[in-house]
Amino acid sequence: MASSTQADGEGTFSAEQYFATQPPPPTLEQDIRRVREFAQQHVKEGRRVVLVTSGGTTVPLELNVVRFLDNFSAGTRGATSAEYFLNAGYAVIFMHRQFSLQPFSRHYSHSTHPFLDFLELDSAETEYSGEASSDATRISAKPSERKQLIEVLTAYKEVHKAGTLHTLTFVTVNDYLWLLRAVAQELSMLGRSSMYYLAAAVSDFFLPRQRMSEHKIQSGKGSLHIEMDQVPKILKPLVNEWTREGFVVSFKLETDASILIPKARAALARYGHQVVIGNDLHTRKYQVVFVSPISSHKRSASLAGNEEAYVESWLKIDPSTYPQKEIEEDIVEELVRLHDTWIGVE
Ligand code: PMT
Repeated sequence: MASSTQADGEGTFSAEQYFATQPPPPTLEQDIRRVREFAQQHVKEGRRVVLVTSGGTTVPLELNVVRFLDNFSAGTRGATSAEYFLNAGYAVIFMHRQFSLQPFSRHYSHSTHPFLDFLELDSAETEYSGEASSDATRISAKPSERKQLIEVLTAYKEVHKAGTLHTLTFVTVNDYLWLLRAVAQELSMLGRSSMYYLAAAVSDFFLPRQRMSEHKIQSGKGSLHIEMDQVPKILKPLVNEWTREGFVVSFKLETDASILIPKARAALARYGHQVVIGNDLHTRKYQVVFVSPISSHKRSASLAGNEEAYVESWLKIDPSTYPQKEIEEDIVEELVRLHDTWIGVE
């Protein structure tokens, strides 16, 4: 691809350099105005606010994008956790990858539980005439589906009425970074009442706009070599600059479980935030490990991480109880407890 234009000559952008050289998404201002209104309303009503990020980010290879790299994530962790945060009384900003799972509708995913499969035409109408516009045709849910549908629909309607869920969408890692920064800056007015639950799977490498091909990269010239730059580690400015008092929870995803805890400790030591939740790709639905500095468990918490003093605790559910029991219920319960301590209400 084209010649190098990276900001510091080593393929590594600082967050500052990143935002100075990569353009914001076109809807950023409008998105943030709505976030501001949402946050102001809930501060007034005395609610805590959590930002939940969810789903994977893409890295486009062309300006007129045909090809892109993607990060693995269905959005299950984020969408499920958002429901439990709502249930715990939080106002939730759900910042997710377009078309990934969302709270409530996640129960009826088109691939695992398509809603058309559990709807029935009323018995009087079984000889359906094919007249789709018939006002007399009644539709009902299969008896086996009703209990769950009523529960999900009731919770969904209550949240809708209370206005406690606000949704934001990203696709690329660039959208994600700009949105995360702007939302964090807006939520900084909440101080310790804000929580950041960073479950999105964020790309580690990207192609700066200045080096992207304008049109579809042509094949036929042999192999393709792309040199990507490292995405700035965004936790550092998030913790130190954008939101100094927010309660920040990051995730660590590994495929080798033996390095989860050392990596989680290293992240806490480097960024000084409150909790890392470690999960292994294959067991993530049944077990996670919470790693946090002792200071997150004390009322007199210092903002900095302490390399010497960490607490590790595993949360596990019996796989045979899934999906009736979801580990996110326990994750959120534990985080609410830690957030209480962080705020000083315990
Ligand atoms: O959606 P599911 O299918 O249910 O899967 C959920 C999940 C496995 C994706 C989720 O539980 C999870 O682990 N999300 C984080 C995955 C990830 O990106 O891990 P990481 O090791 O690459 O990043 C660790 C942390 O650093 C992340 O919290 C991220 O916010 C942060 N980060 C990452 C890149 C970057 N440039 N800057 C960052 O600050």
